[in-house]
Amino acid sequence: VRHLVDVTPPGAQRYPVLCGRDPAHALAALWDARWHKVAIIGDDTTVALFARPIAEALAARGAEVIELGFAPGEASKIRATKERLEDAMLAAGLDRNGCVVAVGGGIALDLAGFVAATYLRGIAHIHVATTLLAQVDAAVGGKTGVNCARGKNLIGAFHHPRAVLIDTGALASLPAVELRNGLAEGIKHAALADLELFTSLERWADDDPSGVPGDEIIAGCVAIKAAIVAEDDRDQGRRNVLNFGHTAAHAIEAATGYAVPHGHAVAAGMVIELRLACDAGWLDPADLGRMMKLLERVGLPHCAPCSFEAALPFFAADKKTVDGLVHCAIPQRLGQIEPVLGRFTRAVSLEQLERAWSS
Ligand SMILES: NC(=O)c1ccc[n+]([C@@H]2O[C@H](COP(=O)([O-])OP(=O)(O)OC[C@H]3O[C@@H](n4cnc5c(N)ncnc54)[C@H](O)[C@@H]3O)[C@@H](O)[C@H]2O)c1
Repeated sequence: VRHLVDVTPPGAQRYPVLCGRDPAHALAALWDARWHKVAIIGDDTTVALFARPIAEALAARGAEVIELGFAPGEASKIRATKERLEDAMLAAGLDRNGCVVAVGGGIALDLAGFVAATYLRGIAHIHVATTLLAQVDAAVGGKTGVNCARGKNLIGAFHHPRAVLIDTGALASLPAVELRNGLAEGIKHAALADLELFTSLERWADDDPSGVPGDEIIAGCVAIKAAIVAEDDRDQGRRNVLNFGHTAAHAIEAATGYAVPHGHAVAAGMVIELRLACDAGWLDPADLGRMMKLLERVGLPHCAPCSFEAALPFFAADKKTVDGLVHCAIPQRLGQIEPVLGRFTRAVSLEQLERAWSS
């Protein structure tokens, strides 16, 4: 197990991100003896695949362990599931010296993190990330929450974990579509902040696009997320750059009734937003070409899966749309995004978006 980076959020305690193939051992090594009861929370798949060795390692450290699962999928990331988990923890007598160990992808981490954020007004939690998306993105940064009828992630809290464990061994069982979802976010990180990492992704994609990206690529993505969170953990400034590709992606997801997997929507969204930047003279078209080629190599889409007309109502309803202007975070060149007039997002018109969407 390797120490990748310490996350230093401005408003919270520093925490380490560790990466390796034996998260149970790593967890036992960093375990705080005060955490005498622990709730391991994951979806039913990740609990079945990964909870047992963790439970055994923590029991050997003297902790009393309960395992709590929920049905996999976004439909479980709701207040009702949170309530059920909280009731089970209360019944088990978890007190303020308890700890939550969230095991799984972004859904398990967001949900269990939110449970930890409000349980007895906040207890410690640790993330064991088992999807590529959680490893390169969701596990770091302290955003927790659930969905509700009006939209995704509308109810939540900032609550940073005490540690993040990236279980790279877990990726061997991850379905290909989930790998690609994570790759899209990793490519996004590289495109925002690290040209060298983008080039490494291109090299990897040329060699072995169907495999699992190596530890160095995952470490590079984590370093970018950690650096952004160290500057702005509350989404007040630089963290907005993580929305690159997402303004268009959210409209694509909503317009297709969430039939398009998130990473696939982000891939198409990045291409649309980069094309818009080319049309506006903000970006060298060669950079758009590199992005499209990389996405194609790894099996991610590079054009919109629905018409602009279908997406339009969702742009109009986006809370970031003001006076017909949509706000997008778009890099100036591959590997770099800097504020323009003090803002990390640019206002673009629906006409500009439509042109980029359709070409
Ligand atoms: N908090 C943040 O900063 C942040 C950032 C990005 C995304 N998110 C959230 O993350 C969620 C998506 O996360 P996700 O893509 O990881 O989805 P997910 O958690 O649903 O995991 C995807 C699927 O893979 C299965 N799985 C997980 N690990 C596995 C493994 N190693 N082997 C086999 N199967 C495995 C899960 O059971 C699930 O069915 C969204 O709800 C999104 O809002 C949060």
